[in-house]
Amino acid sequence: MKKAIGVFDSGVGGLTVTRELIAQLPNEDIVYFGDTARVPYGIKSKETVIRFTIENILFLLKQNVKLICVACNTASSCALPVLKKNFRVPLVGVISPGAREAVYATRNKRIGVIGTKGTIKSRTYETEIRQLDPEIKITAVACPLFVPLVEEGWLEGGVVEEVARRYLEPLKKAKVDTLILGCTHYPLLKPIIRRIMGKEVTLIDSAKQVAIEVKKILDQEGLLNKNGRPQHRFYVSDNPEWFSGLAKRFLGRPVKNIKKVNNV
Ligand code: DGL
Repeated sequence: MKKAIGVFDSGVGGLTVTRELIAQLPNEDIVYFGDTARVPYGIKSKETVIRFTIENILFLLKQNVKLICVACNTASSCALPVLKKNFRVPLVGVISPGAREAVYATRNKRIGVIGTKGTIKSRTYETEIRQLDPEIKITAVACPLFVPLVEEGWLEGGVVEEVARRYLEPLKKAKVDTLILGCTHYPLLKPIIRRIMGKEVTLIDSAKQVAIEVKKILDQEGLLNKNGRPQHRFYVSDNPEWFSGLAKRFLGRPVKNIKKVNNV
């Protein structure tokens, strides 16, 4: 049987990464798991995020996957550095591809990172960036209100503008020329972030680089599907209706046949 690419996120946000995977790997089957019973991960402790991540990986392994993409920035930054060596299946997170692209893009060696509290506290982006170039100055800011605003569909207007201005102020002061959107939800706020930060600042949305990395690994391992009619399956741990309502905004098309599973 053809093996699929497994993807998981704390909820619906990982669909921004899935969208790129579908665009760049149109022949691949994809199994997506959104842990909607336990979202958000961004405010949970590292130990809890590690436990949830292990459970999600074990669920996906039962779905016959050949690679797992950890689409959630919080899970990638808190759990992957610890877990990577414990599984035989390739685990691809979203941190390294984003960090690499940012180091490549910066001209003044000042990079900003925004993400959930968990992602920022883990300092994983800093670690990855410093390994690539120790001279780079990094300013990292947690933006916890962005996730609920995006889920409410408040992508423009006075409230989100005020919140974004406050969060982005230290990054403007630090004169970053490159800003990593270190959370699944933030690409949807690109227009407002771009307006506040200015056109000269490069916004890094790692989804595309993640898809390129997944393709490279599958190719190296001889696991790429050359043809076939791809199947995309979607599982959640709670509330498929909520997931379905938001899915179109994140994936760019509606999602049908969402199955609720009790894996947790
Ligand atoms: N998916 C999470 C991330 O990228 C955001 C939502 C959450 O806090 O669970 O960090």
